[in-house]
Amino acid sequence: MKLSFENQVAVISGGASGLGLAIARKLISNNVRVLLLDIDSSGLEEITGELGEKANSRVLDISNEESVQRIIREIIEEYGSIDILVNSAGITGNTGIMSHEVDSVDMERVFNVNFKGSWMLSKYIIPYMLKQDYGRILHIASIAGKEGNAGMLAYSASKAAVIGMAKVQGKEYAGSGITVNALAPAVIRTKMVENMPEEQVKYMTDKIPMKRCGTLEEIANLAKYIVSPENSFTTGFTFDLSGGRATY
Ligand SMILES: NC(=O)c1ccc[n+]([C@@H]2O[C@H](COP(=O)([O-])OP(=O)(O)OC[C@H]3O[C@@H](n4cnc5c(N)ncnc54)[C@H](O)[C@@H]3O)[C@@H](O)[C@H]2O)c1
Repeated sequence: MKLSFENQVAVISGGASGLGLAIARKLISNNVRVLLLDIDSSGLEEITGELGEKANSRVLDISNEESVQRIIREIIEEYGSIDILVNSAGITGNTGIMSHEVDSVDMERVFNVNFKGSWMLSKYIIPYMLKQDYGRILHIASIAGKEGNAGMLAYSASKAAVIGMAKVQGKEYAGSGITVNALAPAVIRTKMVENMPEEQVKYMTDKIPMKRCGTLEEIANLAKYIVSPENSFTTGFTFDLSGGRATY
């Protein structure tokens, strides 16, 4: 059992941008050593130096199993342990289209990153967490996975799969000191959202009862709690961050 964040090591996928980067900043300010994993090499290069000595990074496509396995092995060799995994890497795929218009290649690509990539990282990190009887895993899902956003079949279905994975893993490791949870945000203005059709973003934002988007600070604060030692009796759960859109 860990009592504080002191000397902990966190792996954050999608750490070069948006939610992953905000969570990285928050954990670093709480003395966690952070490994950012991202497919975007120039984005990683740009921010890693700025984050200071507690941050390091590796370029990784999380949908490539061999690369995931190799990078995790290298991180363990260098750091000795991994205490926290935050899976934030994700893509929307094509949006603003009806289910019958969805391309099967796009569907596969979205599942490979959002579901399979998150599973791969947990698959290769959990054995090390089991050895130390401690771990905190946070999969970033989405309100789309709870409710289904029209026009976003691939994204919504892949995020529902992520929520399902958190439920399964929460139960599987409940006796081990590892907690596994998901987080389902509504809309936060990041690069991902900027790249979506404005009509699709309006559709999602109009459904938020608070009538505003969430902020990166709100995400980072909740994520920090979820991966903290204090979050010791909640597992398999999907935390809400939707300004009242989902009340379950
Ligand atoms: N922004 C929102 O409104 C919102 C809402 C709900 C859920 N989410 C989820 O939050 C997570 C972060 O999204 P964001 O808004 O910060 O987006 P973002 O685009 O700013 O960041 C996502 C990061 O993932 C990286 N990435 C994409 N594919 C990858 C791959 N194959 N391997 C490694 N890295 C890869 C990107 O390079 C990028 O740096 C995603 O899983 C997203 O689905 C976002």
